[in-house]
Amino acid sequence: MRFGHFDDDAREYVITTPETPYPWINYLGTEKFFSLISHTAGGYCFYLDARMRRLTRYRYNNVPTDAGGRYFYINDGGDVWTPSWMPVKAELDRFECRHGLSYTVITGERNGLLAETLYFVPLGTDAEVHRVRLRNNGNGTRSLKLFSVAEFNLWNAWDDQTNYQRNLSVAEVEVDGSAIYHKSEYRERRNHYAVYAVNAPISGFDTDRETFFGLFNGWHEPQAVLKGACRNSVASGWYPIAAHQIDVELAPGEEKDLVFVLGYLENPKDDKWEAPGVINKAPAQTLLERFRTSEQVDEAMAELRRYWTDLLSRYTAQTGDPRVDRMVNIWNPYQCMATFNICRSASYFETGVGRGVGFRDSNQDLLGFVHLVPERARKRILDVAATQFPDGSAYHQYQPLTKRGNNDIGSGFNDDPLWLIESVDAYVRETGDLSILEEEVPFDNNPDHSGTLFEHLKRAFHHVLNNLGPHGLPLIGRADWNDCLNLNCFSETPGESFQTTENRTGRTAESVFIAGLFVHSAPGYIALAEAMGFDKEAEAARRAAAEMVQTVTEHGWDGEWFLRAYDYFGNKLGSEENQEGQIFIEPQGFCVMAGIGLEEGFAQKALDSVAARLDTDHGIVLHQPPFSRYYLEYGEISTYPPGYKENAGIFCHNNPWVMIAETRLGRGDRAFNYWKKIAPAFREDISEVHRLEPYVYAQMIAGKDAPLNGEAKNSWLSGTAAWNYVAIAHHILGVRPELDGLRVDPCLPGELTKLKITRICRGAEYRITIKNKGTGEIPHLKIDGKSIESTLVPYATPGSTVAVEVEM
Ligand code: GLC
Ligand code: GLC
Repeated sequence: MRFGHFDDDAREYVITTPETPYPWINYLGTEKFFSLISHTAGGYCFYLDARMRRLTRYRYNNVPTDAGGRYFYINDGGDVWTPSWMPVKAELDRFECRHGLSYTVITGERNGLLAETLYFVPLGTDAEVHRVRLRNNGNGTRSLKLFSVAEFNLWNAWDDQTNYQRNLSVAEVEVDGSAIYHKSEYRERRNHYAVYAVNAPISGFDTDRETFFGLFNGWHEPQAVLKGACRNSVASGWYPIAAHQIDVELAPGEEKDLVFVLGYLENPKDDKWEAPGVINKAPAQTLLERFRTSEQVDEAMAELRRYWTDLLSRYTAQTGDPRVDRMVNIWNPYQCMATFNICRSASYFETGVGRGVGFRDSNQDLLGFVHLVPERARKRILDVAATQFPDGSAYHQYQPLTKRGNNDIGSGFNDDPLWLIESVDAYVRETGDLSILEEEVPFDNNPDHSGTLFEHLKRAFHHVLNNLGPHGLPLIGRADWNDCLNLNCFSETPGESFQTTENRTGRTAESVFIAGLFVHSAPGYIALAEAMGFDKEAEAARRAAAEMVQTVTEHGWDGEWFLRAYDYFGNKLGSEENQEGQIFIEPQGFCVMAGIGLEEGFAQKALDSVAARLDTDHGIVLHQPPFSRYYLEYGEISTYPPGYKENAGIFCHNNPWVMIAETRLGRGDRAFNYWKKIAPAFREDISEVHRLEPYVYAQMIAGKDAPLNGEAKNSWLSGTAAWNYVAIAHHILGVRPELDGLRVDPCLPGELTKLKITRICRGAEYRITIKNKGTGEIPHLKIDGKSIESTLVPYATPGSTVAVEVEM
């Protein structure tokens, strides 16, 4: 069952009923100011950091789930309704929400009155713009009242939800014509404030929440709206809001636009005041001047569309299947940009006050966006690398505002450092920019202790070698990719964090997954070392990788698949010997991606075991059998009921590892079938089961052991986005940059027979046509009409166009 449809030409998902199975959201903003907006206008916005600089309030765990946003109310001669359906829920004659690339348009019509609201954050702007277009489709003239409302957050979102004894006395606002200013704590150490303004005269306003809503009323029945009049309240303490009242007359067929701006402003510390106690509004006025008219809004929207057209032109595919095309060309790269901007901070599953920017997460996200924003990716790499410790290990997370490592979680996730090698390698392959390796980057943000970025990679690589366990496999530390496999944490205290508790710090628990990741990262590391002229280091790394392959073959192979780990006691996990947790997905995917066991037949065996034991209708589950009880020695993985999250859920993040591994064996049909099971556009038809947005991946789909098998959770912010992009675009469609050229090596399913792919890389454009005859043979390439013997297309001079023909 569907709740809307894709509009590929407009690059939009069109939701046609407000009653979707869950709030379906979108992100606004591309630089510093970001917003979450659901299809019924719920959500919130923040500047840079969802915790430290939150502009509007949002309540998680709410009833109903998605209450609170920037809503517009209409009082049309006593008939009160909201065009976004929520929160009043008056029946609409028409509802439509179009989620587009960094904008959302919500349209509601009732009794011949149409209200269409465009929400977006213009480029170069720290503000949301809301353009409300009202049209009278009826026969008579109407006089109606339009109300806006936004509820201010007291900046620090954590404090805002916990420190009421202080907070209920600090709120301050100013009202200046049609502009309402929020300036809590501006009198002391804050140099920033917010504004919510409209480009028309208002007939009333409220800034005190209780006055507008009434103490006993909810979002669905604000007293001011019901009565048809604001009371011009000026908040003093308590709960500051911004509500405008605008009286509108519309002749039959007449249309009127109103432009609202909700923005964030900063002043220099010594230029904060215009008069004693009156904020300096100059920056706000500059902002508001830019959106005085509807034409200015149109221009800003056109600019935003051009921004996305340019970004998305770097890799486009016509595969003959619109579902593939819309994932590859539009929604997957779009989601990758969301992970670039927000990391794991703010979604409808992440509160913006918990997790910051993850070391492991960011480095993996980069694989999906590096071709879109290479310059910004470069900066991200340097920021992330600066949180690495001198011994090569890394803070697990850092805060986006301060860019400092976050001590709450600390360090000790032993896979973390290797992801830096993967991301730098991807960046250099994309751009050819070796100079990044020579950048001086501090360790632990300490400017007195720094090294080149290459030195950081070296320490990352050697951190693994310096931390090997009894079998010569890498020690797992607090956890590896699987945050919930906590082999050194024997927690018996309710509520204790599995990620930070380490009470069995023996050097015994080892991870075969990290071994696979190590071997996988080695070729990139070696190539970078050689490019820098560090031949000895390259040679040493080559030897170390070969030894690790040997170790995995000896101690990491269980007979039919790769083992997962050795636990604290030195016992196997992910082995036929185990009663539960016999086989895990992660080492099968990563070891084969790394090329381990290709010749010996291990690779094929491992992937066949995945197909036989882990594959399901909704994707590949993380392990089998699930843990039916709590295992003290395994940690959080066994806390979830079977089928959820790391306890045998379908982690969409590691399914693509198996897809990529399948392409190493040349099994395109299998790879593609795995992808189709989890790709949202392919799950659109079962939206009532999947429940989350059909245009972006979710972190997890409930596995076959869960009662709600097939139901997704945690959409948007997940390494899932990057890895699925890498699987489909780089390995199945097969176009990926390498150091010396563009690799064009598709591994296609039989059902895709004629394809066109355009790739812009290092300034040149590659127009690739593929004829897939399904013979399973190695692709044969022609460059500008001439046959070549390999699948590597040498890089062409910037500005040129290269025609690549592939027959397979
Ligand atoms: C979450 C984390 C990621 C981790 C994964 C598996 O998605 O953000 O870092 O690898 O869970 O535990
Ligand atoms: C929890 C989640 C896991 C996530 C981790 C991050 O363990 O289950 O998915 O990666 O928290 O700290």
